[in-house]
Amino acid sequence: MESIESILNDDFIGKTVTIHGWVYRIRSSGRITFIIIRDSTDIVQCVASSSLGERYNDISSLTIESSLEVTGQVSKDERAVTGYEIKISDFKIYQRNEFFPITKDKSDEFLLDNRHLWLRSREFTSILKIRSTVFKAFADFFYNNGYYQVQGPMMVSTATEGGATLFKLKFFDDDVYLTQSSQFYLETMIFSLEKVFTIAPSFRAEKSRTRRHLSEYWHAEGEAAWLHNDDMMNVEEKMIEYIVSEVLNKNEKDLKLINRDISKLERIKAPFPRIKYRDLINKSREFGMNLKYGDDLGADEEYNIMIHYEKPLFVTNYPEELKTFYHLPDPENPGEILCHDLLAPEGYGEIIGGGERIWRLDELLERMKKAGLPEEDYYWYIDLRRYGSVPHSGFGLGLDRLVNWICNLNNIRDAIPYPRTVRRIKP
Ligand code: 4AD
Ligand code: MG
Repeated sequence: MESIESILNDDFIGKTVTIHGWVYRIRSSGRITFIIIRDSTDIVQCVASSSLGERYNDISSLTIESSLEVTGQVSKDERAVTGYEIKISDFKIYQRNEFFPITKDKSDEFLLDNRHLWLRSREFTSILKIRSTVFKAFADFFYNNGYYQVQGPMMVSTATEGGATLFKLKFFDDDVYLTQSSQFYLETMIFSLEKVFTIAPSFRAEKSRTRRHLSEYWHAEGEAAWLHNDDMMNVEEKMIEYIVSEVLNKNEKDLKLINRDISKLERIKAPFPRIKYRDLINKSREFGMNLKYGDDLGADEEYNIMIHYEKPLFVTNYPEELKTFYHLPDPENPGEILCHDLLAPEGYGEIIGGGERIWRLDELLERMKKAGLPEEDYYWYIDLRRYGSVPHSGFGLGLDRLVNWICNLNNIRDAIPYPRTVRRIKP
């Protein structure tokens, strides 16, 4: 048995091969039937003719997405979709389908309801392959740099990113939440491992219906002892460069299939530009925007900024009020914190949020008091500042957002097989 991709070359001309897959297209003109078969690797034109005798009708009457195996001789044919053709001499049908419900004219809602079938489309197949490369490359990068992979719990009793977006659920008799971020648990593990990362779902009860928010998303987070905000950004830009280069190496065919402009990805080389929030606010006037110091940057603002950039942009030193309590204040710029967001170009905006953490006990307690957070709920997080505390930094990368940008998709829900949003929980 061969994969379709492996037989699409001149070495196979004249050879008899067996492939298996699904009917992608079928066109019959009486005595001859062209069947395009797809498998996970590619598509190929196969031709059945009346030389198959009585069995010809079985194969010429197949429907889209029926599953089968065919054997036949390979020839070169410029007119065939992928340049080669298989002349069918034998075949086995696994399942003859009824009419496949997905056709060209279907609405977005219909396609989302039938996601389990829509995933078979060639575009989705390519997106899923790119996504697979992204997940592997993220982990490989950190393994190669001496980080350990760890896991935190998904059911938690404390908020990381503020109470507004917490999903509540019953845990026996208690109220608990689905995690928004594994950051605090990663922080606990740097005291044994120093450098850690995780890939896990995070949950946000975001009511906002934007093209970049999911209720459940895949969060790739890293945390390292002794690193400062700038050091962490140095790691992250290398990591993004590595992931993009892996996609370029491994998924060129997929990028072409989804019409991604590859030259735009080839520019993604570290270092990335860095700008302080307050300088960005000033600079945004050049883009015709009317932002004031203290304004938060949402999807629209980031879009209007990032259509002007070709590389990702680090925005540092946000005002304290715009971020959560754990960020380390910048001693040189009062009111600002040592944090960073990484905004993706072509209008995509935030893909990473990270920074340096408060590591002194009194400072943390003061910030928590200001934020109105009960110390007893966070006793374990506070303990980290009691026993051998050290400077440390970390980040969280939204992998679905990264895939969204790398694939240049219109909506994040097409970067994940089964999106969960305000309005969607099935299939
Ligand atoms: O900026 P956020 O909220 O930061 C944190 O959660 C930190 N605790 C991470 C850390 O330092 N360990 O989220 C981090 C990233 C965002 O930059 C974004 O890419 C992604 O998570 N993200 C979402 N992706 C999809 N849908 C959502 N609703 C998302 N919310 C955040
Ligand atoms: Mg953020």
